[in-house]
Amino acid sequence: MKAIVSERYGTPDVLRLSEVAAPVPEENQVLVKVLASSLNYGNLVLLTGKPLPARLAFGLRKPKYQIPGGDMAGIIEAVGEKVTKFQVGDEVYGDLSSNGWGALAEYVVTAEESLALKPGNLSFAEAAAVPMAATTALQALKNKGKVRAGQEVLIQGASGGVGTFAIQIAKAVGAKVTAVVSTRNAELASSLGADHVIDYQKGNLENHQQTYDLILGVNGSHSLSTYKQKLKKNGLFVLVGGPSDQLYQFMLLGPWISMFGNKKFSSFMQKANQQDLVLVNEFIEAGKVRPVIDKTYPLHEVPAAFTYFQKGRAQGKVVITI
Ligand SMILES: NC(=O)c1ccc[n+]([C@@H]2O[C@H](COP(=O)([O-])OP(=O)(O)OC[C@H]3O[C@@H](n4cnc5c(N)ncnc54)[C@H](OP(=O)(O)O)[C@@H]3O)[C@@H](O)[C@H]2O)c1
Repeated sequence: MKAIVSERYGTPDVLRLSEVAAPVPEENQVLVKVLASSLNYGNLVLLTGKPLPARLAFGLRKPKYQIPGGDMAGIIEAVGEKVTKFQVGDEVYGDLSSNGWGALAEYVVTAEESLALKPGNLSFAEAAAVPMAATTALQALKNKGKVRAGQEVLIQGASGGVGTFAIQIAKAVGAKVTAVVSTRNAELASSLGADHVIDYQKGNLENHQQTYDLILGVNGSHSLSTYKQKLKKNGLFVLVGGPSDQLYQFMLLGPWISMFGNKKFSSFMQKANQQDLVLVNEFIEAGKVRPVIDKTYPLHEVPAAFTYFQKGRAQGKVVITI
């Protein structure tokens, strides 16, 4: 089968389209014919081997997962004898980033726990845009943020993969959403349901009077004191992503600030989870959430797709079709 293979850490040009043996499922695995994949930050970590501590999981000298690709949508081609939830022909999607990667290939094997049935109202390319980014937004808002109907939610950096899902999921649960985006993304944020849009190129967050029950820090950054000022009493800030200096500041100071006051600061790591994917499915099939796709590349243009995604300017998701 054709697959993207990376035998060493580096820039996108280490990714080669190669011919490799197709994988064979074990008794508790399924074999999926992959039709589409999409890129997330984790793909860049596996590509570059940076930040360095990630190599403890990904391989010290070279990537232990040589076929990258986490998000995936496709059709089940074969099932192991202990598989109970899926059968041959099922249209599925999932996030394989904690289950061996391998989605940038014509076929992949994975545990059935990584997968859910693909939403019926999405194409394979659209479905592949969903798993990691949507479950990150869902887990940050719901599991960590305990978002409730009627709450004021600010999404800082709402125009990328995670942010576009965060706007829609927050709206779907009945929150009032303010999105912080650049001028070129203001219309996109409104079209996804944001009640208010703050254009970070036209003014600072500090200049706005509104305060929030929940702030999600997805992209871009502000000082801890700005965020503190923007939180209501008993408000919560959840750091999802953004620049690494902000992450270190939050890891160092967040717990202290949270200890002495009524405003809490917390950071968060997404975990692939089948139940969360099923919940995302329900939002999608109800027409409340849809993926936003910026660009689509064929498998042989994966290095170009990584180069584009790495710039951090995608409006929604970058998808690979196979
Ligand atoms: N905690 C976790 O488990 C987890 C999981 C997944 C992702 N993440 C992190 O979450 C972040 C978002 O991931 P993603 O895949 O959604 O990113 P992405 O798709 O690459 O985000 C790109 C978007 O961010 C916007 N942006 C760039 N700089 C900005 C700024 N200063 N202020 C506001 N918006 C800005 C860009 O538009 P403009 O340039 O026009 O503003 C673009 O639309 C990343 O830092 C990623 O590492 C964390």
